[in-house]
Amino acid sequence: MSFYITTPIFYVNAKPHLGHAYSTIVADTICRFKRICAEDSRFQTGTDEHGDKIVEAATGAGVSPKEYVDRISGMFRAAWPPLSIEPDNFIRTTDQEHIQVVQSILQDVYDKGDIYFSEYSGLYCNGCERFLTEKELVDGNCPDHQKPPAPISEQNYFFRMSKYQDWLIDHIKNNPEFITPERYRNEVLSFLKEPLEDLCISRPTSRLTWGIPLPFDTNFVTYVWFDALINYITGIGYPDKDLFARYWPAAEHIIAKDILKPHAIFWPTMLQSIGIAPYKRLHVHGYWNINETKMSKTIGNVVRPGELVDEFGADTVRYFLLREMSFGLDASFSTESLLARQNSDLANDLGNLFSRSLTMVARFAGNQTPKQGNLSESDQELADAAVAMIEEFKAQMNGFAFHKALQAVWAVIGRANRYIVENAPWELAKDPTNAERLATVLYTLLETLRLLALCLAAVMPGTAVKMNASLGIDTGPDLLQQGRWGLLEPGCAITVGEALFPRMDKKGKKKEKKKQDKPQEGKKQKKSESVDTDGMISFDDFTKLDLRVAEIVAAEKIKKSDRLLKLTLKAPEERTVVAGIAEHYGPEEIIGKQVIIVANLKPAKLMGVTSHGMVLAAKGEEGLVLSSVSRPVSNGSKVS
Ligand code: MSP
Repeated sequence: MSFYITTPIFYVNAKPHLGHAYSTIVADTICRFKRICAEDSRFQTGTDEHGDKIVEAATGAGVSPKEYVDRISGMFRAAWPPLSIEPDNFIRTTDQEHIQVVQSILQDVYDKGDIYFSEYSGLYCNGCERFLTEKELVDGNCPDHQKPPAPISEQNYFFRMSKYQDWLIDHIKNNPEFITPERYRNEVLSFLKEPLEDLCISRPTSRLTWGIPLPFDTNFVTYVWFDALINYITGIGYPDKDLFARYWPAAEHIIAKDILKPHAIFWPTMLQSIGIAPYKRLHVHGYWNINETKMSKTIGNVVRPGELVDEFGADTVRYFLLREMSFGLDASFSTESLLARQNSDLANDLGNLFSRSLTMVARFAGNQTPKQGNLSESDQELADAAVAMIEEFKAQMNGFAFHKALQAVWAVIGRANRYIVENAPWELAKDPTNAERLATVLYTLLETLRLLALCLAAVMPGTAVKMNASLGIDTGPDLLQQGRWGLLEPGCAITVGEALFPRMDKKGKKKEKKKQDKPQEGKKQKKSESVDTDGMISFDDFTKLDLRVAEIVAAEKIKKSDRLLKLTLKAPEERTVVAGIAEHYGPEEIIGKQVIIVANLKPAKLMGVTSHGMVLAAKGEEGLVLSSVSRPVSNGSKVS
């Protein structure tokens, strides 16, 4: 089956920003997804380079329109690879092939009588590059550009769009998936209840020269939309190239709600007039706001994708955008929410599951995939959930519900983390008679990781490659063939690599690199030790201790120390605490436990790591045993 996905071609009057990146990440993700579902997929993006706005921007920059469009188009092209976005074609409306095909289409449509010449007067907004109706104005101004539109009266060419109105209504009604999500389909149908006006498709060259000349009247150039929309077919070689036969009408367009009308009304009626089948589906998403405010150059809150990638990496940005926005609705971006997802979903949930599992295979199974024995109820439950995830993931991805697809994946990650705690492989490892059980538990974890990486391949390609490399998988992802349980070969070498995702502090820096506070050795620490030994303190002394419940969300051995573990705790804000428990606990077995900490100790540096507090533990004949609470309680609860 063929699949052809496109993004809007972006105006080159602005540099790439988060909104452009979102549509393009969605297109890349869905194209990768279709490919791993064995579909023949193609992905096109590009730039829209004609029109008044471009000339205005070029003049502002003091360069010729051609120099200007080359520069900004180059920025768009260069913005995508760092986000792991790999289009098959990057089209520009200034490409010669595109210009020729647009002209030959204009001639055909003119010859068949669907383009005519007429007088037009109206209120034209330069910013929108279109005539506005009286109804659209707010206090006489264009609502988007806060300026009054200019009254213009001129002769122009018109496309007989009204002729195709009934056909379009029928087509939308007969093909419920033509415009999705449904809210936008309803919006278009309700707009089509009123009679459609014909579409003005030209500008006189006295007013605009930066456009494609009309072949039948060189005193005019095409108005942006008749030029721009045709990119979707010129990019695959309409009318006679093999690619056109292969990918049309399998086309699915991704746009935001701002350009719904041109795509849902102008484009299908144009195709119908040209005599080409309509595209298959139109996918309409909402707008990204920044901290609940509209993104705008004037406000100065435009988010540049390149800066996010430098700080967080491509996979985190891709995951965040797809997880945070419900496709079709608006969403709000903030660095805080990106950071929270990085630390919680990626570093804690996925990253920990991955590193704990591999470390245990290294420790208990000699760095090899063990052989699975009979599955217990708990193994079977995780295996069933992981296999069911594949189907759920496919269904949600096919419906463009990326956030739900990722929720399904994270539900299994959570389940697998709990499975580790429930099955405590470190306990099983203490008794050799449990060898088969231990092998089965570790196999179940590795196989779950394999299925997780299979789903993540489309969303976070770099992470999936790293996971597969550690699991010793060297075949490309194939959701249809590899979505079954039990495909990992026993005896395969496992490599424990770097952590998948670093934990980051508020400034988006890796935590390890954080400037440490000056160490405070000695006195105060001794004083708190005296709480244990003296036994005779006043109540006032006791209340000076701030004891809190904290959850261990990450743990790792401190290099060159047999005794120390570096713990990341949530109490509820995150803090690092160094604990001398490495001889009694492996890092993987304490994640998820709630312990009691002294929260108000002055920071102290131990083996180069600053500890912000102390974990309480009991020292018995059995060794050191961590403190805990008898029932789960909110992190940060005061112990008194
Ligand atoms: N050139 C036309 C499209 C022609 S397509 C044949 C155009 N260009 S644009 O540069 O203004 O891009 C609009 C598109 O950019 C939106 O439809 C959407 O894909 C993306 N976004 C721009 N701002 C956005 C947000 N704030 N949020 C989400 N996406 C947005 O219109």
